[in-house]
Amino acid sequence: MKKMIDIDFGSSRYDELVELRYKVLLEPLGLKFLDKYREKEIGYLHIGCLDSLENKLVGGLMLIPVNDEEIRMMQVAVDTKHQREGIGHEMVKYAETRAKKAGYSRLVMNAMLSVVHFYEQMGYRQEGDLFEENGITFARMVKDL
Ligand SMILES: CC(C)(COP(=O)(O)OP(=O)(O)OC[C@H]1O[C@@H](n2cnc3c(N)ncnc32)[C@H](O)[C@@H]1OP(=O)(O)O)[C@@H](O)C(=O)NCCC(=O)NCCS
Repeated sequence: MKKMIDIDFGSSRYDELVELRYKVLLEPLGLKFLDKYREKEIGYLHIGCLDSLENKLVGGLMLIPVNDEEIRMMQVAVDTKHQREGIGHEMVKYAETRAKKAGYSRLVMNAMLSVVHFYEQMGYRQEGDLFEENGITFARMVKDL
């Protein structure tokens, strides 16, 4: 059974989340997660999808306040063995509810071009021009909550 959970910065689940993000997002690009980045994540909202039977995280993301209205979603990752099972959709929906409850009215994110369709399915729209970072093309996407 899958369950969406909030994850406390510095907890053992947070360590598991960092590891999952590394495997799904960074390792394939040959990038490392440097410990100096951890401290920055203290004020962010961390969300995970827990496989409660296996007591294991199978997905995660974080939300970063931009200003009073806007919050940014980053590092959306689903375990490669569990992709395309609907976890991504459920997690993003949960994140939207959490953001709204916390008083934000707009969710923004930069999506890799390959997954723009995934976010469009969920009501996000592209804003502005595509841009490139480290050789990867991104689209800025927004949704009013
Ligand atoms: C993108 C991601 C978060 C989606 O989560 P998910 O649990 O796999 O997605 P869901 O099962 O909820 O939704 C599936 C739908 O999303 C889209 N989708 C999911 N993964 C996709 C991918 N890698 N490429 C293109 N479309 C994708 C498809 O439309 C898919 O529907 P389909 O299977 O009927 O074609 C997940 O696949 C992932 O972690 N990918 C690797 C990391 C990544 O690209 N993160 C996004 C950073 S911007």
